Amino acid sequence: MLRLSKISLTHFKNYDFKSFDFSRQVVGICGLNGMGKTNLLDSIYYCCFTKSYFTASDQLNTGFGKEGFRLEASFEKNEHKEKVLCINRGVGKKEFSVNDMLYQRLASHIGLLPAVMIAPDDIEIITGGGEGRRKMIDTIICQLDAEYLQQLILYNKVLLQRNSLLKQFAESRQRDEALLEIMDLQLVQPGNFVFEKRKEFVQQFIPMLQEFYGQIADQKETVQAQYVSSLQQTSFARLLQQNRERDGYLQRTSAGPHKDDLIFDLNGQPFKTIASQGQRKSLLFALKLAEYSYIRQHKGFAPLLLLDDVFEKLDARRMHNLLHWVCKENEGQVFITDTHRERLELAFAQLGVLAQIIEL
Ligand SMILES: Nc1ncnc2c1ncn2[C@@H]1O[C@H](COP(=O)(O)OP(=O)(O)OP(=O)(O)O)[C@@H](O)[C@H]1O
Ligand SMILES: [Mg+2]
Repeated sequence: MLRLSKISLTHFKNYDFKSFDFSRQVVGICGLNGMGKTNLLDSIYYCCFTKSYFTASDQLNTGFGKEGFRLEASFEKNEHKEKVLCINRGVGKKEFSVNDMLYQRLASHIGLLPAVMIAPDDIEIITGGGEGRRKMIDTIICQLDAEYLQQLILYNKVLLQRNSLLKQFAESRQRDEALLEIMDLQLVQPGNFVFEKRKEFVQQFIPMLQEFYGQIADQKETVQAQYVSSLQQTSFARLLQQNRERDGYLQRTSAGPHKDDLIFDLNGQPFKTIASQGQRKSLLFALKLAEYSYIRQHKGFAPLLLLDDVFEKLDARRMHNLLHWVCKENEGQVFITDTHRERLELAFAQLGVLAQIIEL
């Protein structure tokens, strides 16, 4: 079981200094627009992932006009206390420690405290480009498989090197085939690793996704999902070989796991183009709940669930179903924000859930 019992924010976004104690499985966070509901959820996410859900820039996470920020959080995991401390001084590397043990690599922390966030702009995962979907898949696998994260980091590093090499070749108008050969060899190993893991993951994940979609949509709609990768037809080594000319004039690596995608169909037609707003939302929630279930199944305990503004997205019945599932059928801790306190309290009362309400 995973619980967050306390978090303290110093100079994190709009918080000067503030501590929150969490006493229940279900925590409602209320306040008007701009009070800091999303920022509070993000600070929790930060402690789990060593970074913000919304931005890669720590400068944007630092309070305006401040030098750095500090986050301190007390978790309890399977009767074990985990005290997370993150200090960002504004210069140099940020310090991240658990139980006073400083990490040498931030990546080591990933997976210790799993969490799933659902935020308003996440609909991009459905409607946007493949990057968002790859990120979602990678975030799930990384929390369960430390080796995957290492290989993914390695892959991205070598990919950058290969791309800058291709640029150099174009600028100097000459190509060092032998050097490219070595680079390709270095790229193929982590590339294949990432591909195989994603393939394995998707096989288990898609049926879960379909099951949740069926429950949410409650109708005779079927959603299909397919993992698409250029490595399915050709081995990665051959692919790089075949694309050499093209990569040469494009000055970048045109095919590989960094182009993988997850494609959705609705009743046999492309989801992106034909789905209604409500159907997109349903698919997004199905994806997120499948993510939650997948992590719980593999970790043996539920991740934290961070629900930002979901009331704006779902009608009352869907909201009731969602909350019933997370609060009643799961033991995981859930944090849920809303601008309307009464709406939140009513939803909890209807479910018979004893929730803690925090008013910002
Ligand atoms: N780096 C920062 N320093 C100081 N304030 C910031 C920083 N980044 C964002 N803010 C401010 O934090 C405030 C709270 O933002 P947040 O998104 O958490 O509000 P919210 O309660 O979720 O509002 P809404 O109901 O509109 O979603 C905003 O006014 C924003 O301008
Ligand atoms: Mg918000």
